[in-house]
Amino acid sequence: MRIDILTLFPNMFDGIFQESILKRAIDLGKVEIHLVNFRDFTEDPHHKVDDTPFGGGAGMVLMCQPIYDCVESLRGEDSVVVLLTPDGVPYQQKLASTLSQVKHLILICGHYEGFDERIREICDMEISIGDYVLTGGEIPAMVLVDSITRLLPGVILEESYQNDSFQNQLLDYPTYTKPRNFRGREVPEVLVSGDHKKIEEWRREESLRKTRERRPDLIQEEK
Ligand code: ADE
Repeated sequence: MRIDILTLFPNMFDGIFQESILKRAIDLGKVEIHLVNFRDFTEDPHHKVDDTPFGGGAGMVLMCQPIYDCVESLRGEDSVVVLLTPDGVPYQQKLASTLSQVKHLILICGHYEGFDERIREICDMEISIGDYVLTGGEIPAMVLVDSITRLLPGVILEESYQNDSFQNQLLDYPTYTKPRNFRGREVPEVLVSGDHKKIEEWRREESLRKTRERRPDLIQEEK
């Protein structure tokens, strides 16, 4: 998969691609990530990418031209163009799964007060990572890249995400590691019983219990 991230602040991504699973995925060639500063596409002699809003109001608005030209230079037959914005569709695991099938993702990070409404017209999808407003689309873009990359074949063991919270509309079951007794806190007996059928049942029950308790809305969706 190839991901192009259109941003005015490429340095914000320093670090996140150089550690842990994302780094490994890049090194293994499972994902290729390009940071593209759309300021490089402006035709303005002063390299401007934004201007004041028509009709008045506070702040600056990202202009169409640099983003249109940047997207047009990158877009191919297999590309999906995503605009990160608080008024997009809510981002969920299911959408991460869908996007992990795409060959080429183009992520547009908005900034400042907003962007010219006509930018929406060149996008295939608008995504919000939650009901709060961030200073720009960079952190949302990182969230997408991380959640999508771990789902690409060969990045982590399939087993590791099959039981993820949300993958089956249920929260994760509890897990434990050594020691069996930590300061008086015992690991549930069933997990050391060696009875795999019982362990499976216990995990399913715990997932259901936790979901009913914390996120009953997810169980509604499962029906
Ligand atoms: N840009 C600013 N806030 C955002 C959010 N919550 N989701 C996606 N993009 C954003």
